[in-house]
Amino acid sequence: MLVKDDKVIFEKNRDGVRGFPVPDFPKEYPIPQELRRTVPLGIPNVPENEVVRHYVRLSQKNWGVDIGFYPLGSCTMKYNPKFNEDVARLPQLTHLHPNAPDSLVQGALRIMYELQEYLKTLTGMEGATLQPVAGASGELTGILMIKAYLKHKGEGHRDEVLIPDSAHGTNPATASMAGFKAIEVRSNTNGTLDVEDLKAKVSDRTVGLMITNPNTLGLFEREIKEITRIVHEAGGQVYMDGANFNALMGWVSLADLGIDVVHLNLHKTFSTPHGGGGPGAGVVLMREHLWPFTPVPTVEYDPDSQRYHLNWDKPLSIGKMHTFYGHFLVMVRAYAYILSMGGEGLKQAAADAVLNANYLRHLLEGEFKVAYPTRNMHEFVLTAMPIKRETGVRTYDIAKRLLDYGFHAPTVYFPLIVPEALMIEPTETETKETLEAFAEALIKIKREAYENPELVKEAPHTTPVGRLDEVKAAKQLKVKWESDT
Ligand SMILES: Cc1ncc(COP(=O)(O)O)c(C=O)c1O
Repeated sequence: MLVKDDKVIFEKNRDGVRGFPVPDFPKEYPIPQELRRTVPLGIPNVPENEVVRHYVRLSQKNWGVDIGFYPLGSCTMKYNPKFNEDVARLPQLTHLHPNAPDSLVQGALRIMYELQEYLKTLTGMEGATLQPVAGASGELTGILMIKAYLKHKGEGHRDEVLIPDSAHGTNPATASMAGFKAIEVRSNTNGTLDVEDLKAKVSDRTVGLMITNPNTLGLFEREIKEITRIVHEAGGQVYMDGANFNALMGWVSLADLGIDVVHLNLHKTFSTPHGGGGPGAGVVLMREHLWPFTPVPTVEYDPDSQRYHLNWDKPLSIGKMHTFYGHFLVMVRAYAYILSMGGEGLKQAAADAVLNANYLRHLLEGEFKVAYPTRNMHEFVLTAMPIKRETGVRTYDIAKRLLDYGFHAPTVYFPLIVPEALMIEPTETETKETLEAFAEALIKIKREAYENPELVKEAPHTTPVGRLDEVKAAKQLKVKWESDT
């Protein structure tokens, strides 16, 4: 689209070609003459088949998990069954109005209530809110609930949130948004939380600890029970960032580990695609003592009347965290996924995610340096430091070159504690053959780095566009058709 002499011009417009004919208002239409449009509608003339080809061609220029392997660490870009999409598109669900009275939406409330119950069972928690719309939104909800709880107990002076140095950036951002100081806790040489450093940093100012488990290195925090004990003893609460719950589903009760509150990313683990800025759900689950502080309304069930209802009557609630009840159709996908997988299926999915990640690490570890060479959970982190030192080829170049081999790059340069990091999460939905082909491509790229470094440094060579200004590409997205493409 171009703007010339204040008029919008579409390059694909061809005068005289018939596009979609917009009918004129019938004469008897009750719009006064003076309010009717006097100049023609400036929409382009383009035949329907060209419009379809234009958009399909654009969609093919993008990468997606429906096209190929997408091992973006920490993002769980797994393949989501189309069945769950179909369920979320049922008109009986999409046509609901969020202001409809409880009596007319019993089915929707039942879906939300039962989803809460399933997630409570999976985590061992006693309360749930589906309202937060992202992981970060769940974190803020959980930390504000802890803040309200401590204030209610007369401990409102506490102002420090302890956060491991391997944490996702949303953790310290959340602490700060809630008005607290983020205090970093070191990782030890095994890549897990350094318990001695934790002991040195807890105090009567500790609000709590935000801990990711498995952490962003893909490692299970083996000392979690000791960690939660230390924090509780100091009067703090333990918030678990459960964005990596794909590795734990059905295997571990978080309540047994001493977790007080946790968020899960439905838009990773439970069948809504992650990434692309689409709608998400950062469901928060909590122990009983935090339940009075959950956002309103809560979705509840009355066994006497056998009716579901929204409960707004929670005097200690932190209030609303999002309009209405959060992203309902994301909840529907999660509900369909849980029901179609069943408890054993979810447990198997977690086990397969861990198995796939360990197999892939095994295929690569002779060729690449694994940052923490130990048995991992759902993901692992490589460092390309030795390659960079010896050839000048960086992680960034390797990531770009992978596109030429038909693979999306892993997450790069995260976690921050690993230099030249490549964080790989294959997920449970990929086959052994795909994992092997990916490992082969990475190993080939490593060889290229030594034999022909420029080839890797100038990659990608086969994509519609080469290297982009990534900040601009995200912030000033150009999705228009251009006549020279
Ligand atoms: C470990 C971890 N925590 C928190 C988040 C934040 O989730 P969201 O992007 O939904 O806000 C992510 C996102 O990828 C994550 O990987």
